[in-house]
Amino acid sequence: MSLKTKTVEILTRRMLRNPAVGGYASLCTGPPGTGKTSMLLHEASTFMQRYPEEIIFWRDSPDSVVQYNRIGKRYQVLVEDGMDISFHNLSEGGPIDIPFKTFNSLYDIINPDTGKGLARPGMLTVLYFKEEYTWIDLLCHLRHCVGWQNVFIDELEDIIPLNPSRRLGEDRNYRMEKNLQFSNDSKQIRKGLVNLLTNTQSYYEVDWRFRNKLTFLCYLRGSKVDSESRIKQHAVDSLNLGDCFIDMEHRIYGKLKFPGYPPRFPLFEPVIKTPGGVPPVNF
Ligand SMILES: Nc1ncnc2c1ncn2[C@@H]1O[C@H](COP(=O)(O)OP(=O)(O)O)[C@@H](O)[C@H]1O
Ligand SMILES: [Mg+2]
Repeated sequence: MSLKTKTVEILTRRMLRNPAVGGYASLCTGPPGTGKTSMLLHEASTFMQRYPEEIIFWRDSPDSVVQYNRIGKRYQVLVEDGMDISFHNLSEGGPIDIPFKTFNSLYDIINPDTGKGLARPGMLTVLYFKEEYTWIDLLCHLRHCVGWQNVFIDELEDIIPLNPSRRLGEDRNYRMEKNLQFSNDSKQIRKGLVNLLTNTQSYYEVDWRFRNKLTFLCYLRGSKVDSESRIKQHAVDSLNLGDCFIDMEHRIYGKLKFPGYPPRFPLFEPVIKTPGGVPPVNF
């Protein structure tokens, strides 16, 4: 089979919606600036065009400039009730009015029986949770919801860090439990008709148990190739910006292209005030 034929097979699997086969989990890795977010936005955009009736959840890091506006205006923002969130205009300074709706529970976002709720198809549904690990609860919730759902997580290391103890002010044991839950839930997404598409700089930064649940590993220039992969490290090291190797189940691999999604102006970032202030720093 030629590389082109294998690439077509891989792309077909990534776009497949067959309940007998189910969903999948995918992880894209690459150093900063190699196009991880662009690749994720590109796939979200492709899903929107091909399956306009499906819901697409988008996770953006609350610590840096917003990424979801790079796709244009096709997004809505949903914020957990009780979060003190505003948006800061990085281009001109001062606040920027980004409209958002609030929710109390995952049932407000999507009802398991009807598949309906605040989440709307045909756009990115951006969620801001008080606790980042609520993404793991969302995944569990979606497994029981009718229809296909897609969850896009930019910077997965924030959700299932390899070493949760490094994070300030957090209960390490609880985070370890949530990491385990994530791996278990992602094992079930195949049956739950959920597609989970994620990225991180290096897969050494995320909980290792997730690696065994992946159908796809996508490599951008300079990322470390898994020892089980048939893809050669030197091939990944010499990739161009916009090129990506995709490994499917360590069985076959393909090479695909994705366009850049340059930052859109105005640039803005969320400002989230935590009740009680920032957790104390312990030295
Ligand atoms: N295929 C591409 N063609 C042209 N420019 C690209 C491409 N992919 C990414 N870029 C540009 O490179 C920069 C970094 O991309 P980004 O997706 O933010 O990378 P990362 O998330 O890995 O840091 C952005 O300005 C983006 O527009
Ligand atoms: Mg990025």
